[in-house]
Amino acid sequence: MKQLKRIKGTQDILPEDSVKWNALETIIRKVLNHYNFSELRTPIFEQTELFARGIGQLTDIVSKEMYTFQDRSKKMLTLKPEMTAPIMRAYQENKLYAASQLTKIFYIAPLFRQERPQAGRLRQFHQFGAETLGSADPGADVEIIDTALSVYRESGIKNLKLKINSVGDPLCRVPYKKLLQDYIRPNLGDYCEDCQRRFDENPMRILDCKNETCTSLNKEAPKLAENLCPDCQTHYDALKKQLHILEIPFEEDPYLVRGLDYYTRTVFEITSDALGAQNAICGGGRYDLLAEELGGQPTPAVGFASGIERMIMVAEAQGIELAPKQGLDVFLIGMDAEARPLILQQLKALRQAGYRADKDYLGRSMKAQMREANRQKTRFVVIIGEDEIQRKEVSVKLMEKGEQIRLPYDALVTELEKYK
Ligand code: HAM
Repeated sequence: MKQLKRIKGTQDILPEDSVKWNALETIIRKVLNHYNFSELRTPIFEQTELFARGIGQLTDIVSKEMYTFQDRSKKMLTLKPEMTAPIMRAYQENKLYAASQLTKIFYIAPLFRQERPQAGRLRQFHQFGAETLGSADPGADVEIIDTALSVYRESGIKNLKLKINSVGDPLCRVPYKKLLQDYIRPNLGDYCEDCQRRFDENPMRILDCKNETCTSLNKEAPKLAENLCPDCQTHYDALKKQLHILEIPFEEDPYLVRGLDYYTRTVFEITSDALGAQNAICGGGRYDLLAEELGGQPTPAVGFASGIERMIMVAEAQGIELAPKQGLDVFLIGMDAEARPLILQQLKALRQAGYRADKDYLGRSMKAQMREANRQKTRFVVIIGEDEIQRKEVSVKLMEKGEQIRLPYDALVTELEKYK
């Protein structure tokens, strides 16, 4: 019969890799806790409308990439392609604003986008991210950037580049949109179909197009960061000033608009040369109007999300060992039937005392069991044979030293401590 395969663009996280994931998630939780963010978990699927309204109909995510389906009661549902809209929905629905004017949330979650799979671009991928809801202060933007960078620092990931920009607010965007359209209009016929479609409603999206012709046509396009209204300019200046205070190096990229429509003012991306074409390890920004777009009270907010697969790729390219290989503490070998119940009891006691311990389940010979203990890089091999049973003892091979000792059967767990 034909063997079934996993879906294209998805990955099995094998045991040798899942230890790295766990190590990274431990670092993420530790740093996010230090920065006073609390974890929020949302469902794997949501009403399609949440993303259509939140991310924007004309974005690639909503127009081409969502896993959307009708359930048996004909509701349109979507596997979440990102976390910001679900977090805002959960914030409003659970009235998190009632407890405090400022809410700081983080998450680690699987997400789904039907993109063309390639290195670092998957159809099911994972993000960790943070969102600060309730503050319009540029200090919150800086803290968000600093939080992401702290996780990378703590993981040992180096040589990252931070790019920032401001995409303004509706006040400066209306006149800028006209300026941009005036620039594009004479060559509109040469732009790709997607860009032509975006021209009337959302010309800023054209700046995000990856098509080579469009990128070269955009080279001299007017820059929004040079056409900001006074309030957006003040916000952008304060952001840059505070980044300087924290000695966080950055580059201004006037054409950085990001692939989601909810952004206002600050946008940023963190990239790594170790990643190749899909070089963004992190993206984020401010989204002061998303709350109202979703039918809630005005709530200024800012956040970021970082791809976990891409973090692991960068860590590996940089030779960072996220999780040193863990061997077995104890392997127990019983020489005959009489020893078996004793092995069972010792195994349980050792495990309860915190040892990573195991025994044979394949009826292998003593020699084969020793080979297995070696393969598993075991520190102590405990052997119980006829002689040991008579003397109420166990033999312990100290594998690193190559020595063999005897310990009293009743005090194995405590006596072994001395050789740790
Ligand atoms: P995003 O730029 O779409 O932003 O995704 C953030 C990060 O997720 C990317 O920089 C990348 O590392 C990773 N990522 C995205 N798509 C894929 C994929 N197909 N395969 C592997 N990794 C991927 C957002 O999702 C926003 N919600 C970020 C945000 C939070 N803005 C404000 N708050």
